[in-house]
Amino acid sequence: MTYIKQIQDKGIEHITKEDVQYLLTSKGNLQQELFQWAREVRREVKADGVLLRGVIEISNYCQKNCDYCAMRTTNKDLNRYILDPDDIISTATIIKNSGIKVVFLQGGQNPDIDYLLEQVIPVIKKELHLEVLLCLGERPRHVYEKFAQLGADSYILKFESSDPKLYEEISHTPLARRLEYIKWIQSAGLKLGTGNIVGLHNQSLQSLVEDIFLGIKIQPDFISSSPFIPGVNTPMQNYISGSSDITLNSMAIWRIALRTPRIPAVSALETVCKDGQKMGLDAGANVITINFTPKENQNLYKIYSERRFVVNLDHALRTIEGAGLRVLN
Ligand code: 5AD
Repeated sequence: MTYIKQIQDKGIEHITKEDVQYLLTSKGNLQQELFQWAREVRREVKADGVLLRGVIEISNYCQKNCDYCAMRTTNKDLNRYILDPDDIISTATIIKNSGIKVVFLQGGQNPDIDYLLEQVIPVIKKELHLEVLLCLGERPRHVYEKFAQLGADSYILKFESSDPKLYEEISHTPLARRLEYIKWIQSAGLKLGTGNIVGLHNQSLQSLVEDIFLGIKIQPDFISSSPFIPGVNTPMQNYISGSSDITLNSMAIWRIALRTPRIPAVSALETVCKDGQKMGLDAGANVITINFTPKENQNLYKIYSERRFVVNLDHALRTIEGAGLRVLN
């Protein structure tokens, strides 16, 4: 009996740390079997349609100083920008006209852009009738509630790593606080997206196993795994990228254990590996984010360094077709 069959027989709810470690490091036949199981679960929960999201990177100012991110506040070699409300609305209209139903507003953590959100969220939600997804960092509880009142549907805040020591080392804030913000998002009535980064310097395999269990415990509506990409002008710029295999295995395990969440095939997969996003769909993902940030700002949004792969609609559609899937209507 294969290892996968043994886990299927005892039930995924009885999966142990040893099982997760074995699956996370799987390659070859075992990995293919894992991905196949993930695809079966995706089909069973009727989540084979790939959701397209249109992201607008509204600002690259950030209060935080995370060592992995080039938007960190002490990076003085970056021109900072905030988009105008008019530009955001016209870009959201382009997203709508492309047939995409989710507008994803992403930006650094910065309370100075709240005025902007107060203007644009209601328009995108109530006039353009699109779903509003936010990723704007750690904000006070009342701000998450405010975003929900304005019409936001969902919010992404990744835990990044479940290892308290590593998390604090790289983000200079405690993990316990990060997890509290995550709870606030859920209690504000927003759908929650969370996830981890794979391949951080000093990240142990044990902690990646714990990441899987933390993701399950949080019970998010979306979950992602992303390979670490060394960012220019960051203290981590000379480190190597994260493993695409562990990233894909982690996505597949979350698909099997959590069953219904939306799982994106992130653009960073494409940076570390040719056809990486297709591999993500093969591993159980069902979301692709397309970048609609105005061209002149795209290069300043250095979330993943110079080597960033900017996903356009054409690439997304080809990837989905290549994986034998369809866009969710
Ligand atoms: N490598 C991988 N993921 C990164 N993120 C930011 N910088 C990097 C990087 N260098 C991810 C983090 C963050 C999200 C918005 O982008 O997980 O939460």
